[in-house]
Amino acid sequence: STARTYRIATIPGDGVGREVVDAGRAVLDAAARVSGEDFALEWTELPWGSDHYGRTGRMMPADGLQTLEGFDAIYFGAVGWPGVPDHVSLWGLRLAICQGFDQWANVRPVVFHPGVTSPLRKADSADLDWVVVRENSEGEYAGLGGRNFSAREGGEVAVQSSLFTETGCERIMRFSFELARTRDRKKVASVTKSNAQQYGMVLWDDVFRRVAADYPDVETESVLVDAMAARFVLAPESLSVVVASNLNADILSDLGSALAGSLGIAASANLNPERRYPSMFEPVHGSAPDIAGRGVANPIGAVASGAMMLDHLGHPEVADAVRAAIDATTAAGVLTADLGGSATTEDVTSALVAALREPA
Ligand code: NAI
Ligand code: MG
Repeated sequence: STARTYRIATIPGDGVGREVVDAGRAVLDAAARVSGEDFALEWTELPWGSDHYGRTGRMMPADGLQTLEGFDAIYFGAVGWPGVPDHVSLWGLRLAICQGFDQWANVRPVVFHPGVTSPLRKADSADLDWVVVRENSEGEYAGLGGRNFSAREGGEVAVQSSLFTETGCERIMRFSFELARTRDRKKVASVTKSNAQQYGMVLWDDVFRRVAADYPDVETESVLVDAMAARFVLAPESLSVVVASNLNADILSDLGSALAGSLGIAASANLNPERRYPSMFEPVHGSAPDIAGRGVANPIGAVASGAMMLDHLGHPEVADAVRAAIDATTAAGVLTADLGGSATTEDVTSALVAALREPA
């Protein structure tokens, strides 16, 4: 038979993005090789990011999206580097791709691995595992607004508007309910701040109630974002799928990954569920300039994001093998500094590849 070859665009980007994408590629190639499933990953590296900006004044070429459109998926590292304003690097590459390809569902699992010490006391007693679903196309990151009156000394004003549409709310909620149906605990918690933000977030709440009626088999609740932050810490066992707007989910998912032990282990998928455009898989963390270039970045977030890419490409069993290799590696105590260990990126990568070759 002929092997199916998936064409993957890699955008390592800046800082540790390059280190963890290299590691992720090595692990995913190993997973494909040992899987017994007849497929291969063909990587095309695109050298976009802050260096490209330094050379050309753009984070990616003007026809960047056209270049990406033909790929089966995008494997992304991180962007952001001192010298380029963070809003320029983020909007010039990552957000440009998310918006341009209508990757409206951002899925961010919060997973607890054996051998990793969580700052959460309950992590020892309860079975914890939940997923944050982030509305990824509108909300607080719609990019609507402007700055004015900069000529008035000390009197400049800025408006940053949030955009909530019934269509945008409905599709992310249906996605969340469908996801909940695939999980052991069939429950969706919707997060807003609708007591204070009385237009967009009340629309969100109304749509949630309407959509929930179509999923009587799924338990629901609506929780305010400040209360949900406390809930992540105090009653994490009550969580399964947590759906929230762009900003709220961004904050909650960093909290979730910190509770699971480190930002360095958190994975994320930016999905265009209709598959009209390629989806993008990336660790939750940024470019970590404080540790970049030293070979000590934790590659697990990037590797686990790669597992989500394998799920998306239709190889869930290979994805599960990658996740099992992550658990075997952490359980064996092969941990980078962010998890209290002394392993290098290379040590963890080798341990992951070895675990794939010889599953426990
Ligand atoms: P960051 O995620 O880069 O770093 C936060 C902390 O986590 C740092 O102490 C860092 O050392 C640690 N950390 C992150 N990834 C790690 C890894 N793989 N292994 C071990 N430790 C890790 O966030 P920060 O410092 O706020 O932002 C740095 C740059 O990254 C900024 O330019 C920012 O705009 C950008 N950024 C980009 C994102 C993206 O491309 N998706 C997301 C978040 C930030
Ligand atoms: Mg974030």
